[in-house]
Amino acid sequence: MYNKFFGILLLILIGAFSLTAQKVKPVYLDETRPIEERVKHALSLMTLEEKVALCHAQSKFSSKGVARLGIPEVWMSDGPHGVREEILWDSWSEAKWTNDSCTAFPALTCLAASWNPEMSAIYGKAVGEEARYRNKTVLLGPGVNIYRTPLNGRNFEYMGEDPFLASQMVVPYIQEVQKNGVAACIKHYALNNQEVWRGHIDVQASDRALREIYLPAFKAAVTEGKVWSVMGAYNQFRGEHCCHNNLLLNKILKDEWKFDGTVVTDWGGAHNTMQAAMNGLDIEMGTGTDGMTRSISNAYDNYYLALPFLDELKKGTVPESVVNDKASRVLRMIFRTTMDSRRPWGSFATDEHAQVARKVAEEGIVLLKNAGNILPLDASKLKNIAVIGENATRSMTVGGGSSSLKAHNEISPLKSLTAKFGSKITYAMGYASGPPAWGREIPSKFNADTLRAEAVRKARIADVVVFVGGLNKNHFQDCEGGDRLSYNLPFGQDQLLAEILKVNKNVVVVLVSGNAVAMPWADRVPAIVQAWYLGSEAGPAIANVLSGEVNPSGKLPFTFPVKLTDNGAHSFDQLSYPGDSILQVYKEDILVGYRWHDTKNIAPLFAFGHGLSYTSFEVSKPQIDKKLYTKGGIVELTFSVQNTGKVAGAEVAQVYVTQKNAPVMRPAKELKGFKKVFLKAGEKQTINIPVKVQDFAYWDEKSSDWKVDAGEFVLNLATSSGDVKFQVPVRVK
Ligand code: GLC
Repeated sequence: MYNKFFGILLLILIGAFSLTAQKVKPVYLDETRPIEERVKHALSLMTLEEKVALCHAQSKFSSKGVARLGIPEVWMSDGPHGVREEILWDSWSEAKWTNDSCTAFPALTCLAASWNPEMSAIYGKAVGEEARYRNKTVLLGPGVNIYRTPLNGRNFEYMGEDPFLASQMVVPYIQEVQKNGVAACIKHYALNNQEVWRGHIDVQASDRALREIYLPAFKAAVTEGKVWSVMGAYNQFRGEHCCHNNLLLNKILKDEWKFDGTVVTDWGGAHNTMQAAMNGLDIEMGTGTDGMTRSISNAYDNYYLALPFLDELKKGTVPESVVNDKASRVLRMIFRTTMDSRRPWGSFATDEHAQVARKVAEEGIVLLKNAGNILPLDASKLKNIAVIGENATRSMTVGGGSSSLKAHNEISPLKSLTAKFGSKITYAMGYASGPPAWGREIPSKFNADTLRAEAVRKARIADVVVFVGGLNKNHFQDCEGGDRLSYNLPFGQDQLLAEILKVNKNVVVVLVSGNAVAMPWADRVPAIVQAWYLGSEAGPAIANVLSGEVNPSGKLPFTFPVKLTDNGAHSFDQLSYPGDSILQVYKEDILVGYRWHDTKNIAPLFAFGHGLSYTSFEVSKPQIDKKLYTKGGIVELTFSVQNTGKVAGAEVAQVYVTQKNAPVMRPAKELKGFKKVFLKAGEKQTINIPVKVQDFAYWDEKSSDWKVDAGEFVLNLATSSGDVKFQVPVRVK
């Protein structure tokens, strides 16, 4: 009898205990508690060694969590255009997995060229789903370094020369990636605008250039995009490595912009323990103890933020509050990502993602020239279309450095043109480059004369030639680790084009590249199309635009100078570019890109914001809502755009601000608003573009703050920086 009684009592006690045990979850694991409480609680349970372990790599692409507390490791992956294949634990070699072939999305220059924030949102969602599916904590992208020189090997990974365009286009990408529970990582912070001597070059630039040109896109990523991680750049700024730079990381990023996320190095970007400890670095990544060279057995323990950091903490030279701040930031990122049980599951290499890749590609392609409306190609009138050029078949999802991808699928321009035009298509390679290689250029084994002769023979008998050339993400040809050595097209393409033009005038040039190039033949070819590194769906996108199935609506995110010395960075001495191997001075200051061309009256080959369509548009005279504005006001610019042609299309209305009689040097005009509008044939829409008066500001070096002068301004309503339709005076009191 008693046994029964005690048995039941025991059961009740166990039940009660397990209920309370269930209810009383440790705070850091309790998702109903605010993250800040969970961070604080987790930190209070950790040893000094565990906190330090959060601050440095444990392998090529991972850093520790706190296994004892069930807090997972941090796994990072490149890159901005898709999720890189798995890399081995402790070498740069591929792990050769069979299930990590991804969707290759277009390069970010293409996304920027769409001038459509909605494209940025669908892009970020899709690439975020792929990173989530591959169970990554951090996606190492997007990059927003400003396009200062057409020689920079990594311009293809970034969003052009204008800080306002890059700011507008980067925010949706970050927001959508992070909705997947994956941290985006804005890079390379900051002033990493070339690859020559990237590991140490000490960049000097004025406060105005820093604030008005090089920081805005990073600021937007942090303050609007709420990005959860930032990658320090390899170079130095004013004598301190950007991966532990007090001004950039502590003063501006963390204090002024209130960044609460994690700062990681570029790989091997840390060079000093005390600076890494005190100047705002949170996680040190890399390869070996001394950065990028061969690692030793316990390399990661010897990192600057590993045992040396622990020693300083134990000696008391670095207060524990320093490691607590770093560890808190890493924990916060983990709680926002891998420990958020509500985050979605992601998806990988799906048809939906392929369609996103194609849509972004189609909207980013820029029609630069179309004399005599040779485009779109009319299959009913053409019997023989000669496609010439290695870029019609060459894979462009590989190469370029860390953004290289193992694509699940990649459709070439030739394949899609053949699918669309059938037997009308003939092909000749025309020119050849060597195979992709890291850090060096391998010459092609083909005989250039033979290739050229074959191409000319096919061009002679064709109704139209589609020349598909450009650069190719080989070393020196749009690739990380080296800049281009020339502004001209490589591999004898200019000579080949000259030979083709001797036998056929109807040449459509399609440039596949991430940079501007010299075009000595620009006056002699009727059509030029700027196609970017378009990823998995390159072929369909290019064929759809050339055939007219898609009406191109891209606009250039950077200027195409006629010659290199027309560019600001190349208008001074070696110190301006590429520097003297130790020091570099950005002598063009705030006059980057069209700011240089407009202010110095140097006509570009093709202007920033330029892009044609297969239809035509008319922009009406804009109205504004007031005559006098306060400094906190917003100018509502209202006008209409009409599609006056025969096919649907899209125009990008652009608003540039000019200050009259400014007390300081200011560019002729600066982009401060834009809107892409899609119109059916004949359709007219009323458009409103709000321009904040705060955006009229320049950085005042005396007060170290933004300043809007009272006085006269002009709003330029344009369809390219070289094509202003109307000017509207605005007064600020
Ligand atoms: C590379 C690149 C950086 C990349 C990282 C990891 O050197 O500079 O963009 O994310 O290392 O591959």
